[in-house]
Amino acid sequence: MATGKKSAKPARASVKSEDRPGTANIAPAKGKLGVMIPGMGAVATTFVAGVEAVRKGIASPIGSLTQMGTIRLGKRTDGRSPKIKEFLPLAGLNDLVFTGWDIFEDNMDAAARNAGVLERDLLDQVKGTLGAIKPMKAVFDHNYVKKIDGPNVKKGKNKLDLAEQLRDDIRGFRKSSGAERLIMIWCASTETFIEQSAAHQSLKALEKAMKENDENIAPSMIYAYASLMEGVPFANGAPNLTVDIPAMHELAQARELPICGKDFKTGQTLMKTVLAPAFKARLLGLSGWYSTNILGNRDGEVLDDPGSFKTKEESKLGALEHILQPALYPELYGNIFHKVRINYYPPRGDNKEGWDNIDIFGWLGYPMQIKVDFLCRDSILAAPIVLDLVLFLDLAQRTPELRRLGIQEWLSFYFKSPMTAPGLYPEHDLFIQLMKLKNTLRHLKGEELITHLGLEYYD
Ligand SMILES: NC(=O)c1ccc[n+]([C@@H]2O[C@H](COP(=O)([O-])OP(=O)(O)OC[C@H]3O[C@@H](n4cnc5c(N)ncnc54)[C@H](O)[C@@H]3O)[C@@H](O)[C@H]2O)c1
Repeated sequence: MATGKKSAKPARASVKSEDRPGTANIAPAKGKLGVMIPGMGAVATTFVAGVEAVRKGIASPIGSLTQMGTIRLGKRTDGRSPKIKEFLPLAGLNDLVFTGWDIFEDNMDAAARNAGVLERDLLDQVKGTLGAIKPMKAVFDHNYVKKIDGPNVKKGKNKLDLAEQLRDDIRGFRKSSGAERLIMIWCASTETFIEQSAAHQSLKALEKAMKENDENIAPSMIYAYASLMEGVPFANGAPNLTVDIPAMHELAQARELPICGKDFKTGQTLMKTVLAPAFKARLLGLSGWYSTNILGNRDGEVLDDPGSFKTKEESKLGALEHILQPALYPELYGNIFHKVRINYYPPRGDNKEGWDNIDIFGWLGYPMQIKVDFLCRDSILAAPIVLDLVLFLDLAQRTPELRRLGIQEWLSFYFKSPMTAPGLYPEHDLFIQLMKLKNTLRHLKGEELITHLGLEYYD
């Protein structure tokens, strides 16, 4: 550790990784890992097609920390920077098997073609795997996603009964796939905005509310409940409340199951959480940040509904306030006009364009402007996040120290609106999030945490 002590020797360079504290406690990644995905749309199909393409050696897992990232260990002079997947016992891509639910009956090959993200040539080469994955009947409530409707939907006498049907699906997949371990990751549409209510405050209240068909129980909560009841960790890729309510925290902690969310941090918010920390670091003031997007995929269509947009808007607005801390810097950040817009524009499909106009001010209050025009591809940015979350949640599940926590804040790197312990403000700065993630990995293996103090290099 960079303690400032007079020692040029890396503290634990000679200790073998097997001897370090923590290492032995991570159970090995034996057997298959089943990935269960509510929502087989653009993101889910781009993820599964991508994994299959990488397995076949016809593409690279670009954007994935678990596949391409390295982690520095010890001092800068040590020259130890293994790949993350070699440093930790992560599941291999060949061990992944997939299933999911959707309100449409298309198999994953048809859904991927419909989503229009990947080229036909690539899809033809992975057709065997994708075509064999057919969606199970979904738990769906049109009141929660107003812009779409589909035929592949479960019927049940109440919401608890629907949860039981999902639990049957989970058990069925565990058996049919031969998976040793399972992960569920929500890639379905953004649900309408709801706030926490009495029904969400405890597990008992949640189960009672499900039995009584309480309108405050969203479909995503029914999936999350079923997942946790079956001992399956859950990640939430959308901004819905879903697993971020006291009842789910309680369930996750009681059963020692990792949970994380909300809302994959992909395009505009990724940029925001890179730029805003730079302004704060240099004490540049901010008077306004106007963000707008055009997007033409099904997600864009769903977000055209004011209820679903409100859920997304809340998720996107939080980052600036937490990064800039206006209470600490009222002169610089006490009066910011922050606006976020998403416009459904079909010609662009999944190829979103996000514009930002940023009004900042510097020395003596002189104004300046920054314009960002990000021509991105939504699902191309989201797919590696799904892969990393699946592999890291599985790692967390095999690590007693992590699974006991329930909420996996160290995965906040991947989310627009990261889940934290109640009362704790989230870290949004991308580089703090990355440091937190990597230090967590070092900690698990008994490696020195990296503080960047570095005084010892000058002894
Ligand atoms: N792509 C990104 O960059 C990004 C970033 C952050 C969050 N997200 C979120 O990820 C989710 C997926 O995005 P996408 O582009 O794949 O959208 P999509 O519309 O292509 O796919 C969502 C799928 O979910 C299905 N669905 C809706 N409700 C369902 C339910 N209750 N059960 C099962 N299936 C259901 C829909 O039929 C659709 O096929 C969205 O909520 C989106 O907001 C995406």
